[in-house]
Amino acid sequence: MATLPVFPAPARPVWRQLAPGDLAYVAALEAQVHAAPWSLGNFRDALAAGYVTRVAECDGRIVVYGVLMLAPGEAQILNVSVVPEMRRQGLGRALVHQFIADARRADAEQCFLEVRVSNGGAIALYENAGFTRIARRTGYYPPMEPGATREDALVMRLALSPLRPTAPV
Ligand SMILES: CC(C)(COP(=O)(O)OP(=O)(O)OC[C@H]1O[C@@H](n2cnc3c(N)ncnc32)[C@H](O)[C@@H]1OP(=O)(O)O)[C@@H](O)C(=O)NCCC(=O)NCCS
Repeated sequence: MATLPVFPAPARPVWRQLAPGDLAYVAALEAQVHAAPWSLGNFRDALAAGYVTRVAECDGRIVVYGVLMLAPGEAQILNVSVVPEMRRQGLGRALVHQFIADARRADAEQCFLEVRVSNGGAIALYENAGFTRIARRTGYYPPMEPGATREDALVMRLALSPLRPTAPV
């Protein structure tokens, strides 16, 4: 009987918070992922401000990261990023759903985010998670390429139903 080849199981993502020691690495990833990337200082400020941060590692390497800002009654997703070689494997969805759960736990009644109008993949991700388009900000984003025009942002919102306490039996 022929021996079937054995492939290693895909590494499971290990989720944790962003740590100060990650900042340089994540800022380098960010420069590869976004046309208008956050700087290392932006990530440091997010940590200092106490924003919710999440990263996941596969095989000891950060492959997804994001930042959520919590304010009284509402939350805003500020950054959602997956390294190019790990996309379409559910990591972006997992991160967004974790942020939604974080927002609910903090009693936020709604969650907002902004996204480039050209970013069809991200818009599909957010709409699948229940976000709806509520506004458009003209010329909000710097151009994708030098010399191109600035780009509009879609503002998206998710209404968050409060967590129901378990009914006594
Ligand atoms: C947008 C991004 C976060 C998606 O992450 P991802 O891990 O690839 O997304 P997932 O695999 O979790 O996809 C979840 C769903 O989102 C939608 N989606 C994601 N990427 C898509 C794409 N390129 N085209 C169309 N739909 C897409 C699909 O509905 C997908 O479900 P499916 O795979 O079952 O069809 C990722 O492409 C990324 O980091 N892009 C660069 C940074 C960025 O644009 N961040 C968002 C800024 S607001």
